[in-house]
Amino acid sequence: MTQNRPDSFEPKILGFLCNWCCYAAADSAGVGRLQYPPNIRVIRVMCSGRIDPAFIFEAFCHRADGVFIGGCQLGDCHYQFGNFEAMATMGLAWKVMEQCGVDSQRLALEWASAAEAPLFAQLVARFTERIKELGPLGSSEGKDWEELRFKLEAARQVTRGTKLRMAFGKLAKEIRKGGAYRSELIEEGIEKNLGGIIRTEINRSEIVFYIREKGPLSSQELSVKMGIPHTQIEDELAGLSKKGLVERKDGIWAMCEVAPVHRNKP
Ligand code: FES
Repeated sequence: MTQNRPDSFEPKILGFLCNWCCYAAADSAGVGRLQYPPNIRVIRVMCSGRIDPAFIFEAFCHRADGVFIGGCQLGDCHYQFGNFEAMATMGLAWKVMEQCGVDSQRLALEWASAAEAPLFAQLVARFTERIKELGPLGSSEGKDWEELRFKLEAARQVTRGTKLRMAFGKLAKEIRKGGAYRSELIEEGIEKNLGGIIRTEINRSEIVFYIREKGPLSSQELSVKMGIPHTQIEDELAGLSKKGLVERKDGIWAMCEVAPVHRNKP
């Protein structure tokens, strides 16, 4: 897909930089007139551990081609473990990107201290080059924006939702307790504990977005639009129907006219 990339393509990159290191490094790079591509727009955060997975999907929903997160070198976080926690958050974000069919290379987590302005400039230049190679969001994924938009909206909603956040909070606590901040262990823990929730919640949320925006649809149509096997769509629709969110009329699925009533459990 990268061969379709226009030569003039200048990626839009959103950077979240930790105040105490990468942001200071970016500042020094500017003062020292170090050269690096101007594609990155920066948001300063107090720590890389402050990054919420929903920020990342918010950026992609606004058509950022890449998201760059910069924190202090491991062991140097101003708040002790913030950058380790960022590793767990990124593990979750990469998993959600995989479910949406978004290339994981579009999200980077890097470390540079305040004294490492040349390293920071190098990291940004490398990431920008990588995104240029991938092309605009959707091109390396083989998806047009219309198709990707529904998946990203679903990801944004699910990463903001209580169900995934509670499950992730519990897992993050366990990872912290065990000190198991190794990427392969984080990846394994996320797949084992959250993989099912991520798949189900994103599929269901995407179905709801489609029906809300396009009107009533058959399960076959949803399967084609979402690129998901028909049997799986049927399962998700059954789950949504049980919750009172969608209903089937003459073989077509529509939003329920009456919103479900939530009662407190006795
Ligand atoms: Fe920089 Fe935590 S303060 S990563």
